[in-house]
Amino acid sequence: MPRKLFITTALPYANAPFHLGHFMEYIQADIWVRFQRLQGHKVHFICADDAHGAPIMLNAEKQGLTPEKLVEKVTSERVGDLSKFNLSFDHWYSTHSPENVALLHDIYKKLKANKLIISREIEQFYDPVKGMFLADRYIKGICPKCGAKDQYGDSCEVCGAVYAPTDLKSPYSAITGAKPVLKKSEHFFFKLSDKRSAKFLNEWVANTPLQSEVKNKLAEWLGDGGKNLNDWDISRDAPYFGIELPDAPGKYFYVWMDAPVGYLASLKNYFESGKAKLNGEARSFDEFLADDEVEQYHFIGKDIIYFHTLFWPAMLHFAGRKVPNNVFVHGFIGFSGEKMSKSRGTGVSPQAYLKLGLNPEWLRYYIAAKLNDRVEDLDFNPDDFVARVNSDLIGKYVNIASRAAGFISKKFEGKLAKPQLPPDIAKEFAAAAPEIATCYDGREFGKAIRKIMALADLANQYVDANKPWELAKNEDRQSELHTVCSTCISMFRDLTVYLAPVLPQLAANAGEMFNFNAGDWKALTKLLPAGHEIKPYKHLMTRIDPKQMDALLEPALEATKEAKASAKADSKSSEHAEAANSEFALVPPETPKPVVIQPINETISIDDFGRIDLRVAKILDAELVVEADKLLKLTLDLGIETRTVFAGIRSAYNPKDLVGRLTVTVANLAPRKMRFGESQGMVLAAGDGTGIYLLSADSGAVPGMRIK
Ligand code: 2FM
Ligand code: ZN
Repeated sequence: MPRKLFITTALPYANAPFHLGHFMEYIQADIWVRFQRLQGHKVHFICADDAHGAPIMLNAEKQGLTPEKLVEKVTSERVGDLSKFNLSFDHWYSTHSPENVALLHDIYKKLKANKLIISREIEQFYDPVKGMFLADRYIKGICPKCGAKDQYGDSCEVCGAVYAPTDLKSPYSAITGAKPVLKKSEHFFFKLSDKRSAKFLNEWVANTPLQSEVKNKLAEWLGDGGKNLNDWDISRDAPYFGIELPDAPGKYFYVWMDAPVGYLASLKNYFESGKAKLNGEARSFDEFLADDEVEQYHFIGKDIIYFHTLFWPAMLHFAGRKVPNNVFVHGFIGFSGEKMSKSRGTGVSPQAYLKLGLNPEWLRYYIAAKLNDRVEDLDFNPDDFVARVNSDLIGKYVNIASRAAGFISKKFEGKLAKPQLPPDIAKEFAAAAPEIATCYDGREFGKAIRKIMALADLANQYVDANKPWELAKNEDRQSELHTVCSTCISMFRDLTVYLAPVLPQLAANAGEMFNFNAGDWKALTKLLPAGHEIKPYKHLMTRIDPKQMDALLEPALEATKEAKASAKADSKSSEHAEAANSEFALVPPETPKPVVIQPINETISIDDFGRIDLRVAKILDAELVVEADKLLKLTLDLGIETRTVFAGIRSAYNPKDLVGRLTVTVANLAPRKMRFGESQGMVLAAGDGTGIYLLSADSGAVPGMRIK
């Protein structure tokens, strides 16, 4: 039975060009989608621009545009990039649309009828000059712990302290510089703390084959009977670029409430524009979504797991709608071991890639070769890129065709003899189809590519063993030559079908040249028949010219060197980026700050010092915090107990490098409740604004030892 699939990729913010991270996700999803289509399943592959939010509003203002104009400008400039990478979206729409308003209002009203929406007054910083409430990222001030200046409202980059914006000393608005005032306002909340939410989410998680990393995260969030689930603030005050609440004028839905609804809005527009019908789906949008057999999958990055696995399924469920069948999470893409950051130019620009004439399918192949089904980061390594494309794709796969096809055309009028695979090779090829299909279906694309390349190796060994170039010289062995070359073309057909989800253009060209259907998985059990005609061989794909690569990478490599040299780690740029609502937003490069040694504080008594209970702690575990990219979650062994501490040291340390290390902790600091759990202490680090240096204890010290 053909499956009916509704597939999405995360909706990109509409205020910046696409970066490589977007394309990694789109390519991953596109390969999966193409594979499913080739299996005969019906896929509706949907995306849209994520148009709303304060950053887009402020960005537009800065450029003297309305938000609508900014969105239009950005999205029209980037639209062509999608087709150039052969991405086969069926529809692309916008969250700034009447469909989104209608759907969001409908969902909101149902949640409200279900008594899952409450309102309460909260107190928040307000910029009196701008006339606007300030999110944490728009408030700066002096760190309450170390006195560093210009720290953001949630944590200090210098000492790693984590705090509330109201803890900052001399706070100021990052928008106008004005002194913010505390002001009350009514906000609307989705009651995630309601027992029904935890119950539903636990069931959803239990019944959904989420990746183990995602399950673990959810186990933490949903643990303790859902005690850690806080109500979700879904409203923002005007001025805000978004969708107004139907029953509270001047209050807007938080962008993260309307964005996922945009998946449905785009799907609705796809149905109502008649495109779904052209794609073989004659039912209405409502009928389609009411069909239990329709499967809904979202491809997303690891930074937005929270929104897609807690709020989104809960919103849908309590509004009486279909919930996702799964959420497929990928990691980030880095560049030669560094996080890509457009602010420092360390990224590989997809626009430059296209402009320089690099083949989009090289990138598709490379990304496929590196992807698996886990939430793992992936590294764009230029040498590896060239090697995989030139040695594997061209050297192994394309080579088979180029070695065999010329003889067929020149000597045998372009017609094949009956292919004859040696039994051992035939066995491998026969076993491969289900294995490769399982890899594709399970998003183990790297494994699929390895299997396909192993088959290509066998085909090349066959060529080497039979030496067609020697057979060609011997008049008596022409029939052997015919068989060998025909066998090669038949094997090449299989490899092409296997690679078609990754390399749709190359596969189509090969199919056209050799007269086979590159999308026909069912043909894989049969060899090409004797008499099958092919066209003369033309180059299918060129090797990467190192000069093109140099042109692409020069700016990126330079920037990476500089970035490595300056100890200033990534968090600053990612924060700027966050302010611009995109991880890779364009902001001016950072200049490293000189070290400024702060004056010594006022004298304290020995008793004052004695009140601080400093202990040696061993870091048992360190992990990223999905919703806070500046923090690491540390599990500390204090000899007599273990503690969880959130430390703002992500920019300076890789979690895995910390495990096993001894450090120093303030053991009697009052615990702090944070959005993602309780922080039970603090680790000590040196910092002067140019880096963070965690303190260590000499070896021999044991966890729990007192520091005096
Ligand atoms: O993180 C982002 O880039 C968001 N614009 C993703 C939104 S995904 C969905 F919820 F719309
Ligand atoms: Zn500080």
